[in-house]
Amino acid sequence: MSLLFSPYQLKDVTLRNRIAVPPMCQYSAVDGMVNEWHLAHYASIARGGAGLVIVEATGVSPEGRITPGCTGLWNDAQAEGMAQVAAVIRHAGAVPGIQIGHAGRKASANKPWEGDDHIPASDARGWETLSPSALAFGGGLSRMPRALTLDDIARIQRDFVAAAVRARDAGFEWLELHFAHGYLAQSFFSVHANQRTDQYGGDVVNRGRFLLETLAAVRAVWPERLPLTARFGVIEFDGRDEETLAEAIGLTRQMRAGGLDMLGVSMGFSTPEASVPWAPALLAPIAGRVRKEADIPVSTAWGIAEPALAERTLADGQLDLVMIGRAHLANPHFPYDAALALGEAKPARVLPPPYAHWLGRYKGPDATVAQS
Ligand SMILES: Cc1cc2nc3c(=O)[nH]c(=O)nc-3n(C[C@H](O)[C@H](O)[C@H](O)COP(=O)(O)O)c2cc1C
Repeated sequence: MSLLFSPYQLKDVTLRNRIAVPPMCQYSAVDGMVNEWHLAHYASIARGGAGLVIVEATGVSPEGRITPGCTGLWNDAQAEGMAQVAAVIRHAGAVPGIQIGHAGRKASANKPWEGDDHIPASDARGWETLSPSALAFGGGLSRMPRALTLDDIARIQRDFVAAAVRARDAGFEWLELHFAHGYLAQSFFSVHANQRTDQYGGDVVNRGRFLLETLAAVRAVWPERLPLTARFGVIEFDGRDEETLAEAIGLTRQMRAGGLDMLGVSMGFSTPEASVPWAPALLAPIAGRVRKEADIPVSTAWGIAEPALAERTLADGQLDLVMIGRAHLANPHFPYDAALALGEAKPARVLPPPYAHWLGRYKGPDATVAQS
Protein backbone atom coordinates (compact mmCIF):
# COMPACT_ATOMS: atom_id res chain seq x y z
CA MET A 1 0.00 0.00 0.00
CA SER A 2 1.20 3.50 -0.81
CA LEU A 3 1.69 6.04 1.97
CA LEU A 4 -0.95 8.24 0.32
CA PHE A 5 -3.57 5.55 0.86
CA SER A 6 -2.53 4.58 4.35
CA PRO A 7 -4.90 5.73 7.11
CA TYR A 8 -3.95 8.70 9.24
CA GLN A 9 -4.96 9.27 12.85
CA LEU A 10 -4.93 12.61 14.62
CA LYS A 11 -6.46 12.68 18.10
CA ASP A 12 -9.52 10.40 17.99
CA VAL A 13 -10.14 10.97 14.29
CA THR A 14 -8.92 8.49 11.68
CA LEU A 15 -8.83 9.48 8.01
CA ARG A 16 -9.14 6.67 5.47
CA ASN A 17 -6.12 8.05 3.59
CA ARG A 18 -3.82 11.07 3.52
CA ILE A 19 -5.56 13.01 0.79
CA ALA A 20 -7.29 16.11 2.10
CA VAL A 21 -9.36 18.62 0.19
CA PRO A 22 -8.33 22.09 1.36
CA PRO A 23 -10.94 24.80 1.93
CA MET A 24 -12.09 26.32 -1.33
CA CYS A 25 -14.60 29.17 -1.27
CA GLN A 26 -17.57 28.65 -3.54
CA TYR A 27 -18.77 32.28 -3.34
CA SER A 28 -22.28 30.90 -3.74
CA ALA A 29 -23.91 31.54 -0.36
CA VAL A 30 -26.62 34.11 0.32
CA ASP A 31 -26.52 35.87 3.69
CA GLY A 32 -23.87 33.34 4.75
CA MET A 33 -26.25 30.41 4.17
CA VAL A 34 -25.29 27.30 2.24
CA ASN A 35 -27.68 26.00 -0.40
CA GLU A 36 -28.10 23.26 -3.02
CA TRP A 37 -24.81 24.18 -4.65
CA HIS A 38 -22.82 23.50 -1.48
CA LEU A 39 -24.57 20.21 -0.79
CA ALA A 40 -23.94 18.97 -4.34
CA HIS A 41 -20.36 20.24 -4.43
CA TYR A 42 -19.25 18.82 -1.09
CA ALA A 43 -21.07 15.50 -1.65
CA SER A 44 -19.43 15.09 -5.04
CA ILE A 45 -15.94 15.85 -3.76
CA ALA A 46 -16.28 13.66 -0.65
CA ARG A 47 -17.55 10.77 -2.77
CA GLY A 48 -14.31 10.86 -4.75
CA GLY A 49 -12.46 9.24 -1.84
CA ALA A 50 -10.45 11.88 0.04
CA GLY A 51 -9.90 11.20 3.73
CA LEU A 52 -10.71 14.75 4.83
CA VAL A 53 -12.81 17.46 3.23
CA ILE A 54 -12.44 20.92 4.74
CA VAL A 55 -15.33 23.26 4.03
CA GLU A 56 -14.47 26.70 2.70
CA ALA A 57 -13.43 29.79 4.71
CA THR A 58 -16.54 30.57 6.73
CA GLY A 59 -16.97 33.99 8.27
CA VAL A 60 -17.25 34.25 12.05
CA SER A 61 -19.19 37.49 11.54
CA PRO A 62 -20.86 39.26 8.61
CA GLU A 63 -17.94 41.66 8.17
CA GLY A 64 -15.51 38.72 8.35
CA ARG A 65 -16.64 37.29 5.01
CA ILE A 66 -14.38 37.76 2.01
CA THR A 67 -17.28 38.38 -0.39
CA PRO A 68 -21.07 38.65 -0.04
CA GLY A 69 -21.16 35.05 -1.41
CA CYS A 70 -19.09 33.57 1.42
CA THR A 71 -20.53 31.23 4.02
CA GLY A 72 -20.97 32.20 7.67
CA LEU A 73 -21.45 30.66 11.08
CA TRP A 74 -22.66 33.64 13.06
CA ASN A 75 -26.23 32.42 13.45
CA ASP A 76 -28.09 29.19 14.12
CA ALA A 77 -29.81 29.02 10.71
CA GLN A 78 -26.37 28.97 9.06
CA ALA A 79 -25.31 26.21 11.45
CA GLU A 80 -28.36 24.11 10.47
CA GLY A 81 -27.36 24.37 6.82
CA MET A 82 -23.76 23.51 7.66
CA ALA A 83 -24.94 20.45 9.58
CA GLN A 84 -26.31 19.12 6.29
CA VAL A 85 -22.99 19.78 4.59
CA ALA A 86 -21.15 17.91 7.36
CA ALA A 87 -23.64 15.04 6.98
CA VAL A 88 -23.17 14.62 3.21
CA ILE A 89 -19.39 14.60 3.64
CA ARG A 90 -19.57 12.01 6.42
CA HIS A 91 -22.08 9.90 4.47
CA ALA A 92 -19.54 9.63 1.65
CA GLY A 93 -16.92 8.29 4.05
CA ALA A 94 -14.77 11.39 4.50
CA VAL A 95 -14.20 13.28 7.74
CA PRO A 96 -15.98 16.66 7.65
CA GLY A 97 -13.81 19.64 8.53
CA ILE A 98 -14.41 23.37 8.31
CA GLN A 99 -12.26 26.48 8.21
CA ILE A 100 -13.44 29.52 10.16
CA GLY A 101 -11.98 32.96 9.72
CA HIS A 102 -12.20 36.72 9.47
CA ALA A 103 -11.13 38.35 6.22
CA GLY A 104 -9.93 41.61 7.82
CA ARG A 105 -8.84 44.25 5.31
CA LYS A 106 -9.43 41.88 2.37
CA ALA A 107 -13.15 41.57 3.20
CA SER A 108 -15.96 43.21 1.24
CA ALA A 109 -14.60 42.03 -2.10
CA ASN A 110 -16.30 41.09 -5.33
CA LYS A 111 -16.39 37.40 -6.26
CA PRO A 112 -13.31 36.33 -8.28
CA TRP A 113 -15.33 36.07 -11.47
CA GLU A 114 -16.79 39.52 -10.85
CA GLY A 115 -13.47 41.30 -10.39
CA ASP A 116 -11.85 39.97 -7.20
CA ASP A 117 -11.44 43.59 -6.13
CA HIS A 118 -13.01 45.63 -3.34
CA ILE A 119 -16.66 46.53 -3.67
CA PRO A 120 -16.65 50.36 -3.95
CA ALA A 121 -17.37 52.14 -0.65
CA SER A 122 -20.42 53.77 -2.32
CA ASP A 123 -21.97 50.35 -3.11
CA ALA A 124 -24.49 49.13 -0.51
CA ARG A 125 -23.40 45.49 -1.03
CA GLY A 126 -20.07 46.25 0.69
CA TRP A 127 -19.15 46.97 4.30
CA GLU A 128 -16.53 48.62 6.48
CA THR A 129 -13.35 46.58 6.66
CA LEU A 130 -11.29 46.05 9.83
CA SER A 131 -7.59 45.43 10.31
CA PRO A 132 -4.92 45.78 13.03
CA SER A 133 -3.89 49.13 11.50
CA ALA A 134 -5.43 51.61 9.07
CA LEU A 135 -3.32 50.37 6.16
CA ALA A 136 -4.87 49.25 2.87
CA PHE A 137 -3.63 46.04 1.20
CA GLY A 138 -3.19 47.76 -2.17
CA GLY A 139 -3.75 46.80 -5.77
CA GLY A 140 -7.41 45.95 -6.38
CA LEU A 141 -7.96 45.69 -2.62
CA SER A 142 -7.28 49.31 -1.76
CA ARG A 143 -10.20 50.06 0.56
CA MET A 144 -8.83 51.67 3.73
CA PRO A 145 -9.69 49.54 6.78
CA ARG A 146 -10.56 50.91 10.19
CA ALA A 147 -7.95 50.06 12.85
CA LEU A 148 -9.39 47.67 15.43
CA THR A 149 -10.03 48.90 18.95
CA LEU A 150 -9.31 46.56 21.87
CA ASP A 151 -13.08 46.05 22.20
CA ASP A 152 -13.27 45.03 18.51
CA ILE A 153 -10.47 42.50 19.07
CA ALA A 154 -12.22 40.96 22.07
CA ARG A 155 -15.52 40.82 20.15
CA ILE A 156 -13.92 39.09 17.14
CA GLN A 157 -12.31 36.51 19.42
CA ARG A 158 -15.73 35.83 20.93
CA ASP A 159 -17.06 35.46 17.36
CA PHE A 160 -14.40 32.81 16.67
CA VAL A 161 -15.47 30.91 19.79
CA ALA A 162 -19.18 31.11 18.91
CA ALA A 163 -18.48 29.88 15.37
CA ALA A 164 -16.37 27.00 16.73
CA VAL A 165 -19.22 25.96 19.01
CA ARG A 166 -21.65 26.03 16.07
CA ALA A 167 -19.22 23.99 13.94
CA ARG A 168 -18.88 21.46 16.75
CA ASP A 169 -22.64 21.19 17.22
CA ALA A 170 -23.15 20.92 13.44
CA GLY A 171 -21.09 17.71 13.45
CA PHE A 172 -17.73 18.84 12.12
CA GLU A 173 -14.88 16.73 13.45
CA TRP A 174 -11.93 18.84 12.32
CA LEU A 175 -11.61 22.60 12.80
CA GLU A 176 -9.17 24.81 10.96
CA LEU A 177 -8.54 28.40 12.04
CA HIS A 178 -7.80 30.66 9.09
CA PHE A 179 -4.58 32.36 10.13
CA ALA A 180 -3.29 32.72 6.55
CA HIS A 181 -3.55 34.51 3.22
CA GLY A 182 -3.50 38.13 4.38
CA TYR A 183 -6.78 37.91 6.25
CA LEU A 184 -7.24 39.23 9.77
CA ALA A 185 -5.08 36.86 11.83
CA GLN A 186 -2.29 36.90 9.24
CA SER A 187 -2.49 40.69 9.27
CA PHE A 188 -1.76 40.76 13.00
CA PHE A 189 1.37 38.64 12.40
CA SER A 190 2.56 40.51 9.32
CA VAL A 191 4.69 43.64 9.43
CA HIS A 192 3.05 44.58 6.13
CA ALA A 193 -0.28 45.08 7.89
CA ASN A 194 0.43 45.61 11.57
CA GLN A 195 1.90 48.88 12.81
CA ARG A 196 0.15 48.91 16.17
CA THR A 197 1.98 50.29 19.16
CA ASP A 198 -0.11 48.48 21.82
CA GLN A 199 0.18 44.88 23.06
CA TYR A 200 -1.02 43.58 19.65
CA GLY A 201 1.77 45.16 17.56
CA GLY A 202 5.52 45.60 17.45
CA ASP A 203 7.71 42.61 18.25
CA VAL A 204 6.79 39.05 17.35
CA VAL A 205 5.43 38.38 20.84
CA ASN A 206 2.88 41.13 20.34
CA ARG A 207 2.18 40.32 16.67
CA GLY A 208 1.52 36.70 17.64
CA ARG A 209 -0.79 37.58 20.53
CA PHE A 210 -4.08 37.65 18.58
CA LEU A 211 -3.35 34.20 17.11
CA LEU A 212 -2.36 32.61 20.41
CA GLU A 213 -5.28 34.12 22.32
CA THR A 214 -7.79 33.12 19.64
CA LEU A 215 -6.39 29.59 19.56
CA ALA A 216 -6.62 29.30 23.35
CA ALA A 217 -10.21 30.59 23.41
CA VAL A 218 -11.30 28.18 20.68
CA ARG A 219 -9.40 25.24 22.21
CA ALA A 220 -11.42 25.75 25.40
CA VAL A 221 -14.67 24.95 23.54
CA TRP A 222 -13.42 22.59 20.83
CA PRO A 223 -13.39 19.00 22.12
CA GLU A 224 -9.97 17.73 23.18
CA ARG A 225 -10.55 14.49 21.24
CA LEU A 226 -11.00 16.36 17.92
CA PRO A 227 -8.22 17.94 15.85
CA LEU A 228 -7.81 21.69 15.99
CA THR A 229 -5.58 22.99 13.22
CA ALA A 230 -4.61 26.34 11.76
CA ARG A 231 -3.66 27.43 8.28
CA PHE A 232 -0.85 29.92 8.63
CA GLY A 233 1.26 31.83 6.14
CA VAL A 234 4.83 31.16 7.23
CA ILE A 235 6.45 32.94 4.29
CA GLU A 236 5.62 36.01 2.20
CA PHE A 237 8.14 35.74 -0.65
CA ASP A 238 8.83 39.42 -0.07
CA GLY A 239 12.61 39.31 0.29
CA ARG A 240 12.67 38.86 4.08
CA ASP A 241 11.73 35.19 4.00
CA GLU A 242 14.23 33.75 6.47
CA GLU A 243 13.21 36.25 9.15
CA THR A 244 9.48 35.63 8.64
CA LEU A 245 9.97 31.86 8.61
CA ALA A 246 12.01 31.90 11.82
CA GLU A 247 9.32 34.01 13.54
CA ALA A 248 6.55 31.79 12.17
CA ILE A 249 8.26 28.60 13.36
CA GLY A 250 8.70 30.12 16.82
CA LEU A 251 5.01 31.06 16.94
CA THR A 252 4.02 27.61 15.67
CA ARG A 253 5.93 26.06 18.60
CA GLN A 254 3.89 28.22 20.94
CA MET A 255 0.66 27.28 19.17
CA ARG A 256 1.65 23.63 19.47
CA ALA A 257 2.10 24.12 23.21
CA GLY A 258 -1.26 25.91 23.26
CA GLY A 259 -3.12 22.89 21.88
CA LEU A 260 -2.72 23.14 18.11
CA ASP A 261 -2.74 19.64 16.57
CA MET A 262 -1.52 20.36 13.03
CA LEU A 263 -0.30 23.31 10.99
CA GLY A 264 -1.55 23.89 7.46
CA VAL A 265 1.58 25.48 6.04
CA SER A 266 0.78 28.24 3.60
CA MET A 267 1.79 31.68 2.35
CA GLY A 268 1.13 35.08 3.88
CA PHE A 269 -0.27 36.97 0.88
CA SER A 270 0.03 40.11 2.99
CA THR A 271 1.40 42.32 0.23
CA PRO A 272 0.67 42.62 -3.48
CA GLU A 273 4.44 43.05 -3.95
CA ALA A 274 5.15 39.37 -3.17
CA SER A 275 6.93 37.39 -5.84
CA VAL A 276 5.95 33.73 -5.43
CA PRO A 277 8.26 31.25 -7.19
CA TRP A 278 5.39 29.09 -8.46
CA ALA A 279 6.38 25.46 -9.00
CA PRO A 280 4.84 22.06 -8.25
CA ALA A 281 4.79 21.40 -4.50
CA LEU A 282 6.67 24.65 -3.85
CA LEU A 283 5.78 24.72 -0.15
CA ALA A 284 6.52 21.06 0.62
CA PRO A 285 10.19 21.62 1.62
CA ILE A 286 9.15 24.58 3.80
CA ALA A 287 6.42 22.49 5.40
CA GLY A 288 9.02 19.79 6.07
CA ARG A 289 11.16 22.33 7.86
CA VAL A 290 8.23 23.53 10.01
CA ARG A 291 7.36 19.91 10.78
CA LYS A 292 10.85 19.25 12.03
CA GLU A 293 11.66 22.50 13.79
CA ALA A 294 8.27 23.05 15.43
CA ASP A 295 7.74 19.33 16.01
CA ILE A 296 4.16 19.38 14.75
CA PRO A 297 2.23 17.41 12.10
CA VAL A 298 1.83 19.46 8.91
CA SER A 299 -0.12 19.60 5.70
CA THR A 300 0.26 21.82 2.68
CA ALA A 301 -1.38 22.49 -0.66
CA TRP A 302 -0.19 24.44 -3.69
CA GLY A 303 0.56 22.54 -6.86
CA ILE A 304 0.49 18.95 -5.66
CA ALA A 305 -1.68 17.52 -8.42
CA GLU A 306 0.28 14.40 -9.39
CA PRO A 307 -0.18 11.19 -7.36
CA ALA A 308 3.52 10.33 -7.53
CA LEU A 309 4.47 13.80 -6.30
CA ALA A 310 1.96 13.55 -3.45
CA GLU A 311 3.44 10.19 -2.49
CA ARG A 312 6.97 11.64 -2.56
CA THR A 313 6.10 14.49 -0.15
CA LEU A 314 5.03 11.82 2.35
CA ALA A 315 7.96 9.49 1.69
CA ASP A 316 10.41 12.38 2.11
CA GLY A 317 8.91 13.19 5.50
CA GLN A 318 7.78 16.65 4.39
CA LEU A 319 4.06 16.20 5.02
CA ASP A 320 1.62 14.21 7.12
CA LEU A 321 -1.37 15.07 4.95
CA VAL A 322 -1.45 16.21 1.33
CA MET A 323 -3.92 18.94 0.40
CA ILE A 324 -5.18 18.64 -3.14
CA GLY A 325 -7.43 21.48 -4.21
CA ARG A 326 -7.97 22.46 -7.83
CA ALA A 327 -7.25 18.92 -9.06
CA HIS A 328 -10.45 17.95 -7.20
CA LEU A 329 -12.40 20.67 -9.01
CA ALA A 330 -11.09 19.28 -12.30
CA ASN A 331 -11.84 15.71 -11.27
CA PRO A 332 -13.86 15.05 -8.11
CA HIS A 333 -12.74 11.41 -8.34
CA PHE A 334 -9.08 12.40 -8.16
CA PRO A 335 -8.37 9.89 -5.36
CA TYR A 336 -9.66 7.00 -7.50
CA ASP A 337 -7.36 7.99 -10.36
CA ALA A 338 -4.51 8.38 -7.86
CA ALA A 339 -5.16 4.87 -6.51
CA LEU A 340 -4.98 3.51 -10.07
CA ALA A 341 -1.80 5.48 -10.78
CA LEU A 342 -0.09 4.30 -7.59
CA GLY A 343 -1.00 0.65 -8.26
CA GLU A 344 -3.26 0.17 -5.25
CA ALA A 345 -4.52 -3.42 -5.06
CA LYS A 346 -8.22 -2.50 -5.13
CA PRO A 347 -8.41 1.08 -6.43
CA ALA A 348 -12.20 1.10 -6.84
CA ARG A 349 -12.57 0.64 -3.08
CA VAL A 350 -11.63 4.29 -2.78
CA LEU A 351 -15.15 5.03 -4.05
CA PRO A 352 -18.47 4.25 -2.34
CA PRO A 353 -20.03 0.82 -3.10
CA PRO A 354 -22.58 2.03 -5.71
CA TYR A 355 -19.63 3.06 -7.88
CA ALA A 356 -16.94 0.70 -6.57
CA HIS A 357 -18.95 -2.45 -7.25
CA TRP A 358 -19.05 -1.70 -10.98
CA LEU A 359 -15.71 -0.04 -11.49
CA GLY A 360 -13.88 -2.82 -9.67
CA ARG A 361 -14.75 -5.16 -12.53
CA TYR A 362 -14.96 -2.60 -15.35
CA LYS A 363 -12.72 -3.54 -18.27
CA GLY A 364 -13.66 -0.70 -20.63
CA PRO A 365 -16.66 0.24 -22.78
CA ASP A 366 -16.46 -2.83 -25.04
CA ALA A 367 -16.80 -5.36 -22.23
CA THR A 368 -20.28 -6.58 -21.34
CA VAL A 369 -21.78 -5.64 -17.98
CA ALA A 370 -24.19 -7.94 -16.18
CA GLN A 371 -27.60 -6.27 -16.02
CA SER A 372 -29.48 -6.12 -12.80
C1 LIG B 1 -11.68 28.34 -5.73
C2 LIG B 1 -10.69 28.43 -4.62
C3 LIG B 1 -11.10 28.85 -3.38
C4 LIG B 1 -10.20 28.88 -2.29
N1 LIG B 1 -10.67 29.19 -1.04
C5 LIG B 1 -9.84 29.06 0.02
C6 LIG B 1 -10.35 29.15 1.34
O1 LIG B 1 -11.55 29.27 1.56
N2 LIG B 1 -9.47 29.05 2.36
C7 LIG B 1 -8.13 28.83 2.15
O2 LIG B 1 -7.37 28.74 3.12
N3 LIG B 1 -7.64 28.69 0.91
C8 LIG B 1 -8.46 28.77 -0.15
N4 LIG B 1 -7.98 28.54 -1.42
C9 LIG B 1 -6.63 28.01 -1.57
C10 LIG B 1 -6.69 26.49 -1.64
O3 LIG B 1 -7.09 25.96 -0.38
C11 LIG B 1 -5.36 25.87 -2.04
O4 LIG B 1 -4.37 26.28 -1.14
C12 LIG B 1 -4.95 26.31 -3.44
O5 LIG B 1 -5.97 26.02 -4.36
C13 LIG B 1 -3.65 25.62 -3.85
O6 LIG B 1 -3.77 24.23 -3.82
P1 LIG B 1 -3.94 23.44 -5.23
O7 LIG B 1 -2.73 23.76 -6.05
O8 LIG B 1 -4.02 21.99 -4.84
O9 LIG B 1 -5.20 23.93 -5.87
C14 LIG B 1 -8.85 28.53 -2.50
C15 LIG B 1 -8.43 28.15 -3.79
C16 LIG B 1 -9.34 28.07 -4.82
C17 LIG B 1 -8.86 27.60 -6.17
